[in-house]
Amino acid sequence: MTTSKKLKIAVIPGDGTGPEVTTEAVKVLAAVAKLEGIDYELKHFDYGGERYLRSGETLPEGAIDELRRFDAILLGAVGHPGVPPGIMEKGLLLELRFKFDQYINLRPVKLFPGVETPLRDKGPADIDFVVVRENTEDLYCDVAGFFKKGTPDEVATQTAIYTRKGCERCIRWAFEYTRRRNNPKGKMLTLVAKTNVLRGHDLWWRTFQEVAREYPDVKADYNHVDACCMWMVKNPEYYDVIVTTNMFGDIITDLGGILQGGMGVAAGGNINPDPGGVSMFEPMGGSAPKYTGQNVINPIAAINALSMLLDQTGYPKAADRVMRAIQSVTGTKMKSQAAGKMGYGTRGVGDLVVQAL
Ligand code: IPM
Ligand code: MN
Repeated sequence: MTTSKKLKIAVIPGDGTGPEVTTEAVKVLAAVAKLEGIDYELKHFDYGGERYLRSGETLPEGAIDELRRFDAILLGAVGHPGVPPGIMEKGLLLELRFKFDQYINLRPVKLFPGVETPLRDKGPADIDFVVVRENTEDLYCDVAGFFKKGTPDEVATQTAIYTRKGCERCIRWAFEYTRRRNNPKGKMLTLVAKTNVLRGHDLWWRTFQEVAREYPDVKADYNHVDACCMWMVKNPEYYDVIVTTNMFGDIITDLGGILQGGMGVAAGGNINPDPGGVSMFEPMGGSAPKYTGQNVINPIAAINALSMLLDQTGYPKAADRVMRAIQSVTGTKMKSQAAGKMGYGTRGVGDLVVQAL
């Protein structure tokens, strides 16, 4: 496919092993772009813990305006051993999610061929669902505070915010996504919440029921979040698409990540699907400081993130090509998905994906 449009990608390699895995994703992008005739341009940004330690800023003045000129952001990892926890997460990752109003956090939970899952007797046919996590509200809004801090009478608050607009746009996008995914086993969207206890989730429940009427071809299903955790382990094949709130989504997607073979494989998209929206794609692995610079970290998650980026920016054919190459490499070449046990180095795995394109 040749399009006249130029795909503009901002690359933020970030900390630790982020740069190593991002390099492999960029290598795969170069190869698939050549095969598919995609015209693209990259610009690297050095945002991350190193820069913060040098300059004291997580995102410099003007960064948001500059990044807004790109179609998408490819992020490696945030997290630096020299920076106290929370600073980079809030100042970089969450800041970008909020500033670009990336209200969808898309986390496919797909077990690739050859990848080991901790679930006995479950294979790629059983573990293949998608979590659509709301990404801008809930306990993440930072409506919080302390009273009598540091005293025995201390009070801490953390308020969950849910808006009609916020849940409706996420639920509607999830229905559309479920329809498009067109699961041959039947289209089903499961709302995961805690309506038996949390009053705010009644808003999600009512909105879900209303929007569901516009999608008669999609079965509208509901699970409490605690039950969902049990089913994800016992019957993962039950799920097609899950839509859920930000905090619950954070928790169940780590469970999903381990079911699909761990942090070397799992990727996510922070998506603003509105016209002109800037979306950001990332491997879930984190910065893994102890593996940094050793050519042992698994780049599959970052390459998976690249495939999601291509899919969301209008290059589904290229995305599919990368996805099939990944699966051929996990299925026929790699010994394990764990760092240092892959049977190849980081760069070697990247090369294998390129060859499999
Ligand atoms: C994730 C991460 C982040 C989150 C952290 C790093 C702030 O766990 O993307 O799931 O909680 O959303
Ligand atoms: Mn998380």
